[in-house]
Amino acid sequence: MAVCTAVLLLSGALLTQKHSSSGLPIKFMVIGDFGRRGAYNQTEVAELFAIKAAAMHPDFIISVGDNMYPSGLSSPDDAAFDASFVQPYHAKSLQVPWYVILGNHDYGDKCYDEPPGCYVYSGDSFYSPLHQLDATLVERDWRWNCHRSFEMTLGEGLVELFFIDTNPAVQKYYDRPWANFTGGLKSQDWSAQLSSLERKLHASKAAWKIVIGHHPPRSNGHHGNTVELLDSLEPIMQEAGVQAYFAGHDHNLEHIHASNNTPHYIISGGGSKSDRPFIGVTDSLFQWPYSGFVTAELSKEELIVYFCGYGTEADDLEPMYSVRIAV
Ligand SMILES: *[C@@H]1O[C@H](CO)[C@@H](O)[C@H](O)[C@H]1NC(C)=O
Ligand SMILES: *[C@@H]1O[C@H](CO)[C@@H](O)[C@H](O)[C@H]1NC(C)=O
Repeated sequence: MAVCTAVLLLSGALLTQKHSSSGLPIKFMVIGDFGRRGAYNQTEVAELFAIKAAAMHPDFIISVGDNMYPSGLSSPDDAAFDASFVQPYHAKSLQVPWYVILGNHDYGDKCYDEPPGCYVYSGDSFYSPLHQLDATLVERDWRWNCHRSFEMTLGEGLVELFFIDTNPAVQKYYDRPWANFTGGLKSQDWSAQLSSLERKLHASKAAWKIVIGHHPPRSNGHHGNTVELLDSLEPIMQEAGVQAYFAGHDHNLEHIHASNNTPHYIISGGGSKSDRPFIGVTDSLFQWPYSGFVTAELSKEELIVYFCGYGTEADDLEPMYSVRIAV
């Protein structure tokens, strides 16, 4: 059993517009790194996810990627879509739109958790990130809204969510066999995407700017920082006043805040398997080494993020952590 174990409050002092009843507050849930055909605790975490959803009534759900292990879908008809998404999240409470981005495994990365797997296959080029982007998946499950990069404006313009595809930023992936899959990494242009994001952030009139990407610029998990993002993306977010960045990739839950003018990093990669220890505690305000997910409530004044743990010691009803941060 498990419960929400932490709370994070971000004050929204920059907000200027009046509350609109048709807009805020917005409630959403964030889960990542889940698609393992129900195995490795995916089903158990999904059941907890459904219970939380029934209590909070989210407006939508965000997946921060690695939706389909080990290497994405082999076609838009792949049964893995049912086994890793439709079935585990069939609960009534989870029948809301899902806004989904791609992780490295969705691009075809078959490293799984055993590194030799990165290099021992060659004939799997029927895998492609295009399959999860295929419009026909919406016919299989109406909730599925998967794109590489997109924006959502909410709360009558007070809130803008910027979903980005961080896979093309990671240099080491370009040497991997899956980099040249159809629609894969080598078809992407990270520097163009980064410039586009910078322009959009600059043009945005929203008081709340929130970025969502699979890879976290900063993490104390197994993968550590994503240096390309730390070097190129963080300064852009800092300049634009992005308050929070939601990510997955590391199979845990983390809250990192490096300084007052960098985003709060919320890592929610605990949708299934979680078996790797943290490598550090740098700028960490909270870390949970097991599975889980986060839920969020965004009002004019504040973003509240609750960290919900599944697994060992996650049965404490009292929050293990809470913090209020003034902008
Ligand atoms: C893709 O890359 C692999 C090695 O990284 C190579 O063996 C293969 O020939 C490439 N395929 C295409 C279509 O370029
Ligand atoms: C599944 O969760 C249990 C705790 O409930 C944990 O002991 C086990 O290691 C988890 N398995 C994986 C693969 O993460």
